[in-house]
Amino acid sequence: MGEQYDLVVVANRLPVDRVTDADGSCGWRPSPGGLVTALQPVVAERRGAWIGWPGDVGSAPDPLTVDGMRLHPVPLDADEVAGYYEGQSNATIWPLYHDAVEQSVFRRDWRAAYREVNERFARAAADLAAPGAVVWVHDYQLQLVPGMLRALRPDLRIGFFLHIPFPPIELFMRMPLRTEIMQGLLGADLVGFQRPGGARNFLRLARRLLGLQPAGNRVGYDGRTVTVGAFPISIGVAEFEALADDPTVQTRAKEIRAELGDPDTVLLGVDRLDYTKGIEHRLLALGELLEGGQLSSPGSVLVQVATPTRERIAHYRDLRDRVNGIVGRINGDHGRVGQPAVHYLYQSLPRRELVALYLAADVMVVTPLRDGMNLVAKEYVATRLADDGALVLSEFAGAADELPQAYLVNPYDVDALKETIVHAVHAGPAERARRMRAMRRHLRAHDVDRWADTFLTALGAAHR
Ligand code: ADP
Ligand code: G6P
Repeated sequence: MGEQYDLVVVANRLPVDRVTDADGSCGWRPSPGGLVTALQPVVAERRGAWIGWPGDVGSAPDPLTVDGMRLHPVPLDADEVAGYYEGQSNATIWPLYHDAVEQSVFRRDWRAAYREVNERFARAAADLAAPGAVVWVHDYQLQLVPGMLRALRPDLRIGFFLHIPFPPIELFMRMPLRTEIMQGLLGADLVGFQRPGGARNFLRLARRLLGLQPAGNRVGYDGRTVTVGAFPISIGVAEFEALADDPTVQTRAKEIRAELGDPDTVLLGVDRLDYTKGIEHRLLALGELLEGGQLSSPGSVLVQVATPTRERIAHYRDLRDRVNGIVGRINGDHGRVGQPAVHYLYQSLPRRELVALYLAADVMVVTPLRDGMNLVAKEYVATRLADDGALVLSEFAGAADELPQAYLVNPYDVDALKETIVHAVHAGPAERARRMRAMRRHLRAHDVDRWADTFLTALGAAHR
């Protein structure tokens, strides 16, 4: 018998990606996205095992240990990356679960790849879990795993958490894989969502699609009871506070402002370059504000950091072209030599540099059209140790439930977005401090460790 663990986390991605350098040598670098940011401290602290894809094509590297986490790579070949990851996960499910802000593509061969790869993850978890262990499955790429794993290992406690929104019935019903996905999720003892609305949608679907009879937050299925609930995810607040308190990071923040030409106002956007993030809406609002003179360049600058993501999928390539175009237009119209109005970085940055940017920014602009949570908003708040700065936040991010003191806005309404940005730019220090203090207080009491504890405790209770 090989290695066995009492806590096994299963997610599409490992916290690190394997990269091959020009000379053929292999290395590892942090993987993108909020799931990894949130789970890493949770798994490290609990010394769990983590099953996931190393982010490239080909055979699996040997298991490795990183920061106390035991990582078990699951390999994908080129067809599986195209069918399971880029196809069914990110061109079918991702857009549908995000309010269909882009059209989903439905393909039989992608569904077949999704099934096959989910089966591979389920087998890996079955091999690695000790008798009676807790297996915690994550996110939309692996919705069939709880059911498959239950069939292989009925002794396990199985939890599932969805990091992205769970859609209303009308949207979910479009999916050819809808029944299998519901059955897959119901293989878990506890199914968790970011918001209460997601949990409600799930229970309604259980009734509509499978004819089940939920009672409160429980539903009987296959001779077991499945518990359903909302568990809004968070960040390692202390870790971000410590970085913000680090003198070298603070010095770097001052340097950044100087490099930007010491403007009156630094606005900041930080996102994966995803069409759900409302980056175009944000840029269009900024362009109109500069055009109309409510903001002026070089007095105000926007720094937009966009992490490269899912670059082979058409929706993402098209978005990149459009964003390049809008940034070029704004800088062409409003920039001066050495003083662009928008500083656009299509790059992934080290965490220290990201925190220095948070510290350098007067106004953080987070405008997703739909987002499960949005950790960037929480990271910005956590790093504002002096209770200064302002957060403009979309109503359609899960974070809006917990941060009602942000400058909340409907990003589809350009006029409202413009007004809200101007309001945040001109807000006085007392107003900013009042809002920031309340948001920081909330986050300090609700960090990611508490999230994990709450979920795992509920899973323990559900299994009994
Ligand atoms: P998503 O999970 O959809 O990407 P979140 O806002 O929840 O969105 O999480 C994004 C995570 O990725 C955050 O932890 C953020 O700090 C990190 N991140 C975003 N952009 C960058 C970047 N350019 N470089 C490094 N980290 C980034
Ligand atoms: C979101 C998803 C994660 C995903 C991340 C990065 O946070 O919820 O499951 O890992 O985006 O996307 P990627 O496709 O690069 O893994």
